[in-house]
Amino acid sequence: MKRVALLGATGSIGKQALEIVEAHPELELVAATSGSQPIDGLAPLTQIGGDPAQLLERAEPDLVLNAVVGFAGLSATLWALEHGVTLALANKESLVAAGELALAAQRRGGGLLLPVDSEHSATFQCLEGRPPDTVDSIVLTASGGPFRGRTRDELADVQPLDALSHPTWNMGPKITIDSATLANKGLELIEAHFLFGVPYERIEVIVHPTSIVHALVRFRDGAALAHLGYPDMRVPISYALTYPERSATPVRPLDLAAGLTLEFAAPDLETFPLLRLARRAGELGGTYPCAFNAANEVAVAAFLAGRLSFLGIADTVEDALAGVDGSPAGDLEELVAADAEARAAAESRLPVVT
Ligand SMILES: NC(=O)c1ccc[n+]([C@@H]2O[C@H](COP(=O)([O-])OP(=O)(O)OC[C@H]3O[C@@H](n4cnc5c(N)ncnc54)[C@H](OP(=O)(O)O)[C@@H]3O)[C@@H](O)[C@H]2O)c1
Repeated sequence: MKRVALLGATGSIGKQALEIVEAHPELELVAATSGSQPIDGLAPLTQIGGDPAQLLERAEPDLVLNAVVGFAGLSATLWALEHGVTLALANKESLVAAGELALAAQRRGGGLLLPVDSEHSATFQCLEGRPPDTVDSIVLTASGGPFRGRTRDELADVQPLDALSHPTWNMGPKITIDSATLANKGLELIEAHFLFGVPYERIEVIVHPTSIVHALVRFRDGAALAHLGYPDMRVPISYALTYPERSATPVRPLDLAAGLTLEFAAPDLETFPLLRLARRAGELGGTYPCAFNAANEVAVAAFLAGRLSFLGIADTVEDALAGVDGSPAGDLEELVAADAEARAAAESRLPVVT
């Protein structure tokens, strides 16, 4: 039996994880959380909002699936890593914001960190068992979102509903907007850096509209291993929940005879500057990735609320990053302060509502 705590049980990842848990008698759901929606009776221990640490202490899970959206997922990530409890991580924002602190907690705790993000699950699988010095580079694929191929002018008036219709993945609203701006791929770039210990210049992002290839790893002998599958998050969720067994899922195998389109192209960094800004924040290090994430969360919320234009998201993040200190955080308190500083910087740059 594996005792599972599911954080963010009401979300897109959370609901798909429940489906996997229900199909596996050896997975026992011992605790569940949501942000505000009711979840009474979903698990023996439940909590709505707040810090999940006490709930996790009482639940004594073997595995925490962190499917909370945003910086709010940080305490659960740090709790699991510090306690040596296996962490299945969908909440990329916590690793982006607190990469060094999280890895230090993992070193102390000694537990497993299993990525749930499809690109990172794919990369993890391609890398598994390979000596690091044989790895040349990692390639993360991006669908390009609903606005792939458009110019900046064509994006000036797009509305939240346009940005919320993703071509290949069905996800929560925040990550869907991040996919439309390519901020999601920027967050994933930083996430990959921390997860796999690979420098930024050896992590490439490539647009692949059909989302069949989730990631590739290039090796020093010229070979590249790729991970393919239909875009369905139940595969990486199941992989993390049942690791290392790789249990069966209801997802159909690739139908190669039906024909597959495997196109690849460079991302358009002029139209989608958030990917460039994320790379820069990652390379600068310190609390710049935390600030990137915080400013982006503020800007996305403002866009969804109709307070900011689509192109204004990147402008807000760029301006906020230019105004923050960015020096490294020695502890959680300093990191939370850096997050707050970046949020305030982004808020101050939002258009005034009249
Ligand atoms: N969806 C995908 O396919 C996908 C793929 C890869 C990675 N991810 C990552 O997985 C995470 C979850 O994404 P999602 O699409 O599942 O998001 P979502 O559908 O918006 O669900 C978010 C979950 O987090 C909870 N939550 C929100 N604010 C919270 C807070 N302040 N404290 C505690 N819980 C809170 C929500 O509870 P309420 O319902 O009560 O608000 C909900 O259960 C994100 O980090 C995303 O980047 C998602």
